[in-house]
Order: sequence, then structure tokens, then C-alpha cells
Amino acid sequence: MTVALITGGNRGLGRAVAEELAERGMTVVVGARDASAGAEAARQLGKEATSVQLDVTDPASAFYGMVVPAYQSSKAALNNITIALAKALVDTPIKVTSVCPGFVQTDLTPINRDQAPLTAAQAATVVATAAVLPDDAPSGTFIDRNRAVAW
Ligand SMILES: NC(=O)c1ccc[n+]([C@@H]2O[C@H](COP(=O)([O-])OP(=O)(O)OC[C@H]3O[C@@H](n4cnc5c(N)ncnc54)[C@H](OP(=O)(O)O)[C@@H]3O)[C@@H](O)[C@H]2O)c1
Repeated sequence: MTVALITGGNRGLGRAVAEELAERGMTVVVGARDASAGAEAARQLGKEATSVQLDVTDPASAFYGMVVPAYQSSKAALNNITIALAKALVDTPIKVTSVCPGFVQTDLTPINRDQAPLTAAQAATVVATAAVLPDDAPSGTFIDRNRAVAW
């Protein structure tokens, strides 16, 4: 059984990724800041999905300190974090991959909802691909919907 934990899985891109991975047969755990929103998203997903209350900025969270909001960091900092995490986890089976989903119709900003060309479901495929890389795929890469992007 493969379990996928998706932070921010209650709405937007995370919700679409949860749907995509559930469709691919994974057991999905919806991470959400609001426990009731997470439970409702899991209920709607069906397919034995469950939920967990999870705020990545909570010092009690296992994710605390690992996640840097993209728009608060420079591209270079994001690159550094990806490579540093990949190096720290080199002796484990865990892969670290940064993903550019494209410009997506979510509630991230009003402009996204009005002007983005991609639906969340379309963008979710690139995130899902990063989540199911084969064992021999490299770690510490950056991908978009077409290919690996050069750092
Ligand atoms: N949309 C785009 O075009 C685009 C492009 C590139 C990258 N991204 C990135 O993709 C990610 C998802 O974006 P989106 O477009 O889906 O945005 P969104 O529709 O605004 O959804 C954001 C999600 O993140 C959750 N969240 C916010 N702060 C959190 C925290 N501290 N801990 C855990 N969850 C938290 C939100 O939970 P609540 O429901 O509790 O608020 C919500 O589920 C973001 O990191 C964004 O920067 C998006």
C-alpha cells in the first residue's frame, strides 16, 4: 500500500493532487490546517481517504523548518533547499523534487482564478509525476510539465 500525505490537500492544487493520486490507487491522507475542512475533503474523495490536521508553520509539525513559502524565498534559496534536502537524504529512498505546476486556476490570487490557463486537475499531473518517480530517478531536481528544468 502506498500512502500519499498531501499538505494543503483540502483545496486548490493540493486538492487536485489528492484526487489524482487517489485515482492512481494511492491511499490518500489529506493534510489541512482546518480539521473539518480536511475531513470533508477526504469524505468527498472517498477511496478510503483520511485526513490529518496539519499546519506546516506549526513548530510541532514534522514539516516545520523544512518548508519555505515560495513567494517568500528567492529562486536561488528554493534551489538551495531542494539540493540541501536531497543531500541530507541521500542514504534514504526519499527523493526531493521541486515542481513548477504552471499558472493555475486556484484561489491563490484573484488573478489566478481569472487569468490562469491551467485547471488544478491539469496542473496536478506534474505534481503527481514528481510523487511517483521510479527508484532510479535522480533526487534534487526541478521539473515542470514538460521536462526537468535546468537549475
Ligand atoms: N496556483 C498557481 O498558479 C501556483 C503556481 C506555482 C506554485 N503554486 C504553489 O502551489 C501551492 C498551492 O497553491 P494553490 O494555488 O493551490 O493555492 P490555494 O488555492 O490558495 O490553496 C492553498 C492551500 O495551502 C494551504 N495552506 C496554506 N498555509 C498553510 C500552512 N501553513 N500549512 C498547511 N497548509 C497551508 C491552504 O489551507 P487553508 O484552506 O487552511 O487556507 C490551502 O489548502 C502554494 O505553495 C503555491 O505557492 C501555485
